[in-house]
Amino acid sequence: MSSVLVTGIAELVTNDPSVGDGSPLGLVERAALVLDAGRVAWAGPAAQAPITDTHVDLGGRAVVPGFVDSHSHLVFAGDRAREFEARMTGARYDGGGIVTTVAATRAAPDELLLARTRALVAEMRAQGTTTVEVKSGYGLTVADEARSLRIAREVTAETTFLGAHVVPAGADRDEYVALVTGRMLEACAPHARWVDVFCEPASAHAFDGDEARAVLQAGIAAGLLPRVHGNQLSAGPGVQLAVEVGAASVDHCTYLTSADVDALAAAAPTSGRDGTVATLLPGVEFSTRSPYPDARALVDAGVTVALATDCNPGTCYTSSIPLVVALAVREMGMSPAEALWSVTAGGAQALRRGDIGHLGVGAKADLTVLEAPTYRHLAYRPGVPIAKVLDV
Ligand code: NIG
Ligand code: FE
Repeated sequence: MSSVLVTGIAELVTNDPSVGDGSPLGLVERAALVLDAGRVAWAGPAAQAPITDTHVDLGGRAVVPGFVDSHSHLVFAGDRAREFEARMTGARYDGGGIVTTVAATRAAPDELLLARTRALVAEMRAQGTTTVEVKSGYGLTVADEARSLRIAREVTAETTFLGAHVVPAGADRDEYVALVTGRMLEACAPHARWVDVFCEPASAHAFDGDEARAVLQAGIAAGLLPRVHGNQLSAGPGVQLAVEVGAASVDHCTYLTSADVDALAAAAPTSGRDGTVATLLPGVEFSTRSPYPDARALVDAGVTVALATDCNPGTCYTSSIPLVVALAVREMGMSPAEALWSVTAGGAQALRRGDIGHLGVGAKADLTVLEAPTYRHLAYRPGVPIAKVLDV
């Protein structure tokens, strides 16, 4: 493949502080990029761009790294519109509705589940997302969890075994944890990169700290990398457990103690050290009428923050990273620059990926073009479809 010169970039966000203005966004105005064999070969001011074989002119638009949606549950059938309606008029979310989606998912043929998963990935791509993590968790039998992961594998390399989503209806808790850490893990591990658990002692359906630790340790022993659903419905052991097992990310973080914030700050990834990222999912608070997490306090404490959609039929049925950016800025005190960093570089750190989430030399050529002159329009123009993946 020959190299492509991309010009007409009014503003380029590289997330490489060694390029451009020296800020974390590594911003370059009137910029150009050279792409070669699917990678960034050069990034900098247009006036210094090298000559190449092919040329694409973006006519004065902003370019940002493709969004990294590091938390989603895309393999499911049916929806829960009535549960959403009930919540909007006062009902509380407690995870109990998950069994409804489990029943619909088990009943769906493979082709339907795959087609629906592909459709959601296409919906994400149409809004600027180039990498997505996909969890199982609506099968909850050995065969149904393995099937969900095989389907997830068709659309992404970032697959997560979430057999420990809830205890299925009618099952004995201890027996179910034994299944998840035994035969189910054995069947699922070949199709997954990650292991996850819904650690939430405040929900009768989810798992307490000891159960969650057992699930994560078994997953690690089977070669999977840990991540955690923690502190979504109440302050609990999820964050501390995530740090203890060296999880790449603990997700939700809606209810945190100051000890949780300190633990996350101490565990933040630094150059040369994989740490634990706090992944915030503000679409969930929007769709469950819960208080938003205190992103400002986390960032100010030195915690590494990622933002993702959590796209799922229960707590947040949106595929839109631009909506997440707008919510983070408007409702959680993040600056537009911090929110953009968190849906790109932050998401990449939450997935321990060095090749995505930035546009420095060597990065994957995942480019999202904004129908706007600056990244600030992402939060400034909520609900307007300005982000599109560049197909080169
Ligand atoms: O991340 N909280 C656990 N799991 C999902 C919701 C799943 C559902 O309600 O269907 C979440 O919010
Ligand atoms: Fe989730």
